[in-house]
Amino acid sequence: MADSQAIPVPEPRIERFEHMAFGMFIHWGVYSQLGRGEWVMNREQIPADEYAKLQDTFTAADFDGRAIARVAKNAGMKYITLTTRHHDGFSLYDTRGLTDFDAPHSPAGRDLIADYVEGCRAEGIVPFFYHTTLDWRWQSHTCDDATFNDYLDYLYASVEVLCTHYGPIGGLWFDGDWSRRTADWKHDRLYGMIRRLQPEAMIINNTGIGNEGSVSHPDVDSVTFEQSMPKALDRRGHPKYIAGEMCQTMNSHWGIGAGDFSFKSPANVIENLAGCRKVGANYLLNVGPTAEGAIPEYEAATLAVAGRWAQQHAGPVYDGKPTGINCQGRDFVLEVDGKLYWFVHDLRIAGHGQVTVSVGGAGPRVATGLSQPVASVRWMDNGEDLQFAQNADAGITTVDFTGYPYGTNLVVRVAEIETV
Ligand code: GLC
Repeated sequence: MADSQAIPVPEPRIERFEHMAFGMFIHWGVYSQLGRGEWVMNREQIPADEYAKLQDTFTAADFDGRAIARVAKNAGMKYITLTTRHHDGFSLYDTRGLTDFDAPHSPAGRDLIADYVEGCRAEGIVPFFYHTTLDWRWQSHTCDDATFNDYLDYLYASVEVLCTHYGPIGGLWFDGDWSRRTADWKHDRLYGMIRRLQPEAMIINNTGIGNEGSVSHPDVDSVTFEQSMPKALDRRGHPKYIAGEMCQTMNSHWGIGAGDFSFKSPANVIENLAGCRKVGANYLLNVGPTAEGAIPEYEAATLAVAGRWAQQHAGPVYDGKPTGINCQGRDFVLEVDGKLYWFVHDLRIAGHGQVTVSVGGAGPRVATGLSQPVASVRWMDNGEDLQFAQNADAGITTVDFTGYPYGTNLVVRVAEIETV
């Protein structure tokens, strides 16, 4: 009998995915020309033939896969998930005759997914493909069984194109299954094809808001947390090790919302990345390119700042594994090859009260469950040694954390702990 407490060993593609840690989500399509989000067709009830005219003005003049991959790389992101087709049914790839509603039949006149994949590979970024399952042109959420079966043939032929013309990809990220009964989708057929054509690709299928972290099919390799901080997954006794990933908007829209000012700051991004890694999950942060396909300046700049933090703490950020150690507040401890990393939140800049104002503060903090004898504790950023004390009987470790040196504020500061 299988051990009901055993945690399964991750398959290599799933383990590789977890080490990628931080990815860029991109929502971009003909809707980006309107600047009112990717749901604009549905929200404003634009008839399909009228909506289709957006294809005639879609130039993709600023879309450059390599430039986008550079922004991701600069942000410390290891992968990108791009909407190859969204719910409006428009494909950024050459569907090779499956439909004319694709980029080669627009003024762009080219296969934008080929450009994307080449750009990613040139920069060492792993390309993932988002693909919708819900298609408003087919009314796939309401159509009768016969039409739906035709639609499934079309959808799966579309995915087959993606699996066969762009070399090995990181994974497929599906979205829209929540629009119909699960059994309707014939997942065995879709996932079987992917495993055959792209054996190393991750299979991800968004379970949507309200259903975060649920496993929809045994072939799924990572569960989704849409717009909410991921929870630790209890993998004991499960037949397969499954990863987790939070996807999140940079403001309040996926596709560009020109009137949306609610942007996250670099500090928010750093805290959210840390919050994902706390439970071993990936962070897939979205950007919404302009009508012509450029990443908006504010979004690129925010990513660049957050990326400096990620790269300064690369070891624990990409390779850190959750531990059973408990800290106060939002603090947590990750482990890499026997070394521990304490992520410290809400510190304060050390120094003069008249020039530095912030909440939280320096001073002793406590962890329980850190059973290994500690040899040293020091800040990763400047190597400063920190005082610590251990009470083995009570299972308590206390570290006296100092504040940020004046001139710095790392938002989340990381201490490296050597154990004996
Ligand atoms: C939702 C939306 C969709 C978006 C996705 C990203 O499912 O329908 O527009 O692509 O979330 O997670």
